[in-house]
Amino acid sequence: MTIALPMQLRQIRGTVLIPLLDQPGFKLVPDAVLVIDDSGRISELKTAPDPCPIPETKPGCIWMPGFVDTHLHFPQSRVVGSASGPLLEWLDETIFPEEARFLDAHYARMVADEFCLSMLSQGTVAAAVYSSSAPSATQILFETMARVGLRGLVGLTLMDRMAPQRVLLDAEKALGAARELAEQWHGFDGGRLEFCITPRFAISCTPKLLKGAAKLAHELNLPVQTHISENQDEIDTVRQLFPKHESYLDVYARAGLLDGRSILAHCIHLSDDEWDLLADKGCSVSHCPDSNFFLGSGQMALHKVQSRGIECGLGTDVGAGRTFSLRRIAASAYDTALLTGSQTTAEELLWYASRGGAKVLGMDDRTGRLEVGCEADLIVMKQSDTGLKPARLFDSLVFQHDQNGVEATYVRGRRVYMKDGS
Ligand code: GUN
Ligand code: ZN
Repeated sequence: MTIALPMQLRQIRGTVLIPLLDQPGFKLVPDAVLVIDDSGRISELKTAPDPCPIPETKPGCIWMPGFVDTHLHFPQSRVVGSASGPLLEWLDETIFPEEARFLDAHYARMVADEFCLSMLSQGTVAAAVYSSSAPSATQILFETMARVGLRGLVGLTLMDRMAPQRVLLDAEKALGAARELAEQWHGFDGGRLEFCITPRFAISCTPKLLKGAAKLAHELNLPVQTHISENQDEIDTVRQLFPKHESYLDVYARAGLLDGRSILAHCIHLSDDEWDLLADKGCSVSHCPDSNFFLGSGQMALHKVQSRGIECGLGTDVGAGRTFSLRRIAASAYDTALLTGSQTTAEELLWYASRGGAKVLGMDDRTGRLEVGCEADLIVMKQSDTGLKPARLFDSLVFQHDQNGVEATYVRGRRVYMKDGS
């Protein structure tokens, strides 16, 4: 008998993938019972007794922690897949004009709803999001994520040079707005939402803005996210703008932007010295393989991360990334690993897409973890053959993303998305 998926989960019985805590992998429990208390926390998680009085919650499906997108851009939702050249040309041609539209609150509100639904329908429960440079659009994004139940980090994108005037905000105004947004939203709803200091990249920010951003992050104890070393023209421009710095990463290091709560996206062309510095500072990496293919940026070598024990998650990087699906991104990361001589598996990549991402966001005590006392952020996905051997099961979850869709998404046990007819 099939039971409709409830609005508030109290208990489930079914096949559950439990992420390992500190190494990429999962424990597969073919028949588990998971109980959720009134606060949305897991109060029991065990193998189903035999006989078990609870019917299977969603036959033909598999439960696992929801996905965590460690890097994407809210104001690029409507221009996904606009093929207008490599990074700097694409920014000028497509992205800056589109992001300027977010000065209009009506447009921002409409896109914010679409953006959140796109994530939830792919099983994403938490994300590190870049807003536009408009404080009003950022406020709208926070309000929308608060309402729909998503978790995550949200940043006002800081940029005070080398782009059209409509998307720039001078350092004092931008930092003032960032402070106000942080005071209102950082730690909202028991830590469900946080404000993230978000310098777009070194090209878009004067040294004054970079330093002011770092100062604010330290003062208010905020996470930081930015782009680095994605494209050769970008790197050359950074060298011209910061001739006295040893490297691209050194620009961020000397501004004071790097510590254990900094998330660096792309990291394609870093030197070994930069990788070592990144690891020494305790920064995390957002690996965005689909975006890297789309903009022809190159490939990040996963083994550089793995060999240094750097925390790593996957990022869709919408709109250079062409999908909101972390499973699709995991498949792209697999292809990238083949091209860069890195060893990985579908299981490891699925872990990066969930628990690994939660660690990158600094939210791993809240999400990406299935244990008693943790919050029940869960997804249930179709899996026509739950009897598959574990390795094939992970392959099918990552590579057969078209066939085995997300049926429902839950945050703290509350349903935030359900596919029609589930
Ligand atoms: N570098 C600076 N801004 C961006 C952006 O919006 N997308 C990507 N992929 N790289 C960037
Ligand atoms: Zn990006």
